[in-house]
Amino acid sequence: MSAEIFAVVNQFKSEIENAAPSTKEEVEQFRIRFVGSKNVLKPLFGEIRNVENERKKEYGQLVNAVKGAAEAKFQALKDAAESAAEEASSQDLDLSAPPEPMSLGAHHPITITMNRIVDIFSRIGFTVAEEREIEDDWHNFTAMNTPEDHPARDMQDTFYLKNSTEMLLRTHTSSVQSRVMMSQEPPIRIIAPGRVYRNETISARAHCQFHQVEGLYIDENVSFAEMKQTLLYFAQEMYGPDTKIRMRPSYFPFTEPSAEVDVTCFICDTKGCNVCKYTGWVEIMGCGMVDPAVLKNCGIDTEKYTGFAFGMGIERQAMMLYSINDIRLLFENDVRFLKQFTSAI
Ligand code: PHE
Repeated sequence: MSAEIFAVVNQFKSEIENAAPSTKEEVEQFRIRFVGSKNVLKPLFGEIRNVENERKKEYGQLVNAVKGAAEAKFQALKDAAESAAEEASSQDLDLSAPPEPMSLGAHHPITITMNRIVDIFSRIGFTVAEEREIEDDWHNFTAMNTPEDHPARDMQDTFYLKNSTEMLLRTHTSSVQSRVMMSQEPPIRIIAPGRVYRNETISARAHCQFHQVEGLYIDENVSFAEMKQTLLYFAQEMYGPDTKIRMRPSYFPFTEPSAEVDVTCFICDTKGCNVCKYTGWVEIMGCGMVDPAVLKNCGIDTEKYTGFAFGMGIERQAMMLYSINDIRLLFENDVRFLKQFTSAI
């Protein structure tokens, strides 16, 4: 009886050893027959009942060995099939093909110019302050000494929020000045870069959205001479070491006295060209000593502190630096335009 059972096991054993399935289907058949949940080896374990006692151990070891051999063979067949598939797919890889060109991004000229301005002022101790673009009337106008009905409000055609006389899109980053003065004690030395909005007709020279950088310095004994020297430093860092500046009297509600700053034309070196309209000078910013009324509105002691402020349009500086003749190019996001700044930093 035992001998017959041993013979069956040995037959499966040699069948497993000799099996050489080559197709996927044949491998699957091998799996079902010897490894799957209903494999032919399973019932053999129960047959141990019919083996005489002294051969039970031998039988058990044999059946286990056959089961192990079946599993090992199936695993080997599976591994071989997987590496064959890998090899086939790696043959699709053409190592001699030219690489995909890597396209470099570019900073927007406004970003480049803004970073440059921020960098120049941060070297002399100014830190960046940023604030909201949707502002209230008080921080944008009233605190900056431009109360309701003040004629200077007409200088800045304002976008108010729908059904609101209170909330608006800030018309200048001076609103950041009032927020900083309200929340910080002097000495204050900040620059405020950011986007501003005015209800202007869009043309080659004007847009309803643009960017400004404003600066504010408040401390004890801050003088007009310090402002002039700070702005000369800026002009020379921005437009070259030989740049000169001049100041023309001007008017802003929040500064007194106020001035407009011109720099010597860096395109023609004052010889006259169409950027400076043959005057040799180009206007770059407005500035002035902070009006004590503004300091008072923002809770700063006017007996102790004085300060200066300045503000410039970034588009204007970028257009001069890169000889861009239409402000609209800066807002259209046309890649043919933006691509030209790939190497600029
Ligand atoms: N806020 C002014 C403007 O929008 C610029 C400015 C800022 C002028 C600070 C003087 C001082 O034109």
